Amino acid sequence: MTCIGLGKIILLGEHAVVYGFPALAAALDRGVTMAAVPTPAGGSLRLDIPAWSLKILASDDHPVSRALLAITDSLGVGRPTVTLVGDAQIPHSAGLGSSAALAVAVSRAMLSHAKRKLDAKEIAAAASASEALMHGRASGVDVALAQAGGIGVYRKATGLRSFASAPLRVLVGPSGAPRTTSAMVDKVADATSASPDDKRLRALGALTDTGTNALLAKDLAGLGASMNKAHEILAGLGVSTDQLDSLCDAARSTGAHGAKLTGAGGGGAVIAIAPRERENAILTEWKNAGVTGFVATVGGGA
Ligand code: MEV
Repeated sequence: MTCIGLGKIILLGEHAVVYGFPALAAALDRGVTMAAVPTPAGGSLRLDIPAWSLKILASDDHPVSRALLAITDSLGVGRPTVTLVGDAQIPHSAGLGSSAALAVAVSRAMLSHAKRKLDAKEIAAAASASEALMHGRASGVDVALAQAGGIGVYRKATGLRSFASAPLRVLVGPSGAPRTTSAMVDKVADATSASPDDKRLRALGALTDTGTNALLAKDLAGLGASMNKAHEILAGLGVSTDQLDSLCDAARSTGAHGAKLTGAGGGGAVIAIAPRERENAILTEWKNAGVTGFVATVGGGA
């Protein structure tokens, strides 16, 4: 059986979500797919994702091997002689939740191979163990979206509250500059003394509330304005780059309602919301800057 973990975008609230504030996030319609197939030659548990040029043994000294073992240990499935064969429709290290998508897909594939029920709590625990190794202080937002799909407001204390919304078209621009989430999370911890009383973290949390209300009222200009303010605050915390700033500026000056970095920053991706007739012009501006963007439709169900 082929199993999936979805990629995600954070519309508002990244970094602040680590300190208990809400984040507005949505799953992409793509991610990582995975199937566990017997390895005829025998040997160690393996993982092979040609789309990411990733081929490892569980016994390798490699971060993904350690993550894989954290998952199998958490699930209690041992180390069967199988190859986890995967495909990825999102880039890795791009701020689109690839590691959580991978962890959820692997967890589901391992349970399926063991002929166990795909229990959501067990999958969440296993994927979170993997994320803790990959990212340190992860809030859990990426795992929640990789598993549940849809759109919602996530808080560490209460998890994901999904809601129905009109489908939302989001322009996504993977900058091509890789970064590590944990380094960016550490940077924000230094900038804010890791204090939930920091006024920039509080402001990011408040923008999640304002932007979510705007989205629910179909006020895309209002959502875009919250996104622009959030980008400014994130840049002030040191997690933007000249490239991300200029991709956001290009989107805004080409008619976007709003644009911001998404995910941890320091590279990774930007997102923009724009009137339908401006989308192609924005994608062309990004292309001229060397970034191949795409339109993701998120939310729906209303
Ligand atoms: C990463 O997608 C989002 C961060 O807020 C980290 C986290 O919440 O785990 C930067």
